[in-house]
Amino acid sequence: MSLVDDARAVRENAYAPYSNFKVGAAIRATSGAVHLGVNVENVAYPEGTCAEAGAIAAMIAAGDNDIAEVAVIADSPVPVSPCGGCRQKLAEFGRGDVKVTLATTDGTTSETTLGALLPGAFDQHQMERA
Ligand code: THU
Repeated sequence: MSLVDDARAVRENAYAPYSNFKVGAAIRATSGAVHLGVNVENVAYPEGTCAEAGAIAAMIAAGDNDIAEVAVIADSPVPVSPCGGCRQKLAEFGRGDVKVTLATTDGTTSETTLGALLPGAFDQHQMERA
């Protein structure tokens, strides 16, 4: 099964009664383990969490912290574009060349990288004095 297939399968479990927009995310860590996440909404709308954030939480809870590959899928007209916050969250755990596949449920995919998703990322080095 590809990482997109993993994301597709877990997407079914998303809890999205307010937007009706289910998203699934799968992260393959450098350990080889695959960690899954879905969006989880809340009646207090800002309290919802994205699929990518869920997959990151699962990865960290499982003891991994190094991303090798990411896939995100939604029933959208074009491959879903991760929100700004999730781009920063993903960048915390993966190098800029990490492959990210964005997919629609009808089979369209778009490939990018963590670096392309978040150019000019804020990182640890910016907190250091020369
Ligand atoms: N959402 C994600 O889970 N990931 C994305 O990359 C885009 C948006 C969720 C948040 C919310 O539950 C719903 O999609 C609509 O914005």
